[in-house]
Amino acid sequence: MKVSEAIASRISCRAFLPDPIPEKTVREILDRARRAPSGGNLQPWHCHAVTGPALKALLADVRAQMELTPRGEPGEFRVYPEGLSGPYEARRFKCGEDLYRTIGVARDDKPGRVRQFRRNFELFGAPVALFIYIDRRMGPPQWADIGMFLQNIFLLAREQGLHSCPQEAWAQWHGLIAAHLKPPAEHMLFCGVALGRMDESAPVNSLRTDRAGLDEIARFHGFG
Ligand SMILES: Cc1cc2nc3c(=O)[nH]c(=O)nc-3n(C[C@H](O)[C@H](O)[C@H](O)COP(=O)(O)O)c2cc1C
Repeated sequence: MKVSEAIASRISCRAFLPDPIPEKTVREILDRARRAPSGGNLQPWHCHAVTGPALKALLADVRAQMELTPRGEPGEFRVYPEGLSGPYEARRFKCGEDLYRTIGVARDDKPGRVRQFRRNFELFGAPVALFIYIDRRMGPPQWADIGMFLQNIFLLAREQGLHSCPQEAWAQWHGLIAAHLKPPAEHMLFCGVALGRMDESAPVNSLRTDRAGLDEIARFHGFG
């Protein structure tokens, strides 16, 4: 598969088939993904791959805890800047509207929206979870490095016929997840990644998000 094909066919998949993914495949993806560049070659990423009984136990724990504290734990970082406005706010709004439209959830259907959001914590049915950690001492440049590692994972998944969904939502269960995975205290959970085979028949996977045009995001200088 060409890189451009992997990029074009990658979407955030929100319904997976339960088919297990062999350890060898997950290892191969992560082994190749670690070639991502990072400033000073710091390689600030730390990853836990979870499947089978370990994943089942974790998801069951989250499910139980969600009954007690539906909003999860206090976050360790702010996912979006305060007072998001302008094109950023508009894109975020549209992305949500488009997503809910695919599954027939109306704007005022709060329970329907909550139900979809909670699917995050079922990993959208995926058989493998990756939990991505960053050392707390790291700053914005290293967070950008993590993004490159993640995108490698997403594209390599495509090469293996798999799909993925990055899930910042998991950050709201960082303490509970740490109780399962026991990362060192200096590691902070950035996000989860759902990994597996796409359920092609699921309406939610029909979503194709748009992008701002090239002229909106790039200026060209000196090309003649
Ligand atoms: C770091 C990161 C975190 C994300 N977290 C979530 C999430 O928690 N739940 C979710 O359904 N989608 C999540 N997404 C998916 C975005 O909504 C999605 O990438 C965006 O709408 C563009 O759509 P596409 O990935 O299908 O091209 C996340 C994406 C990124 C890059």
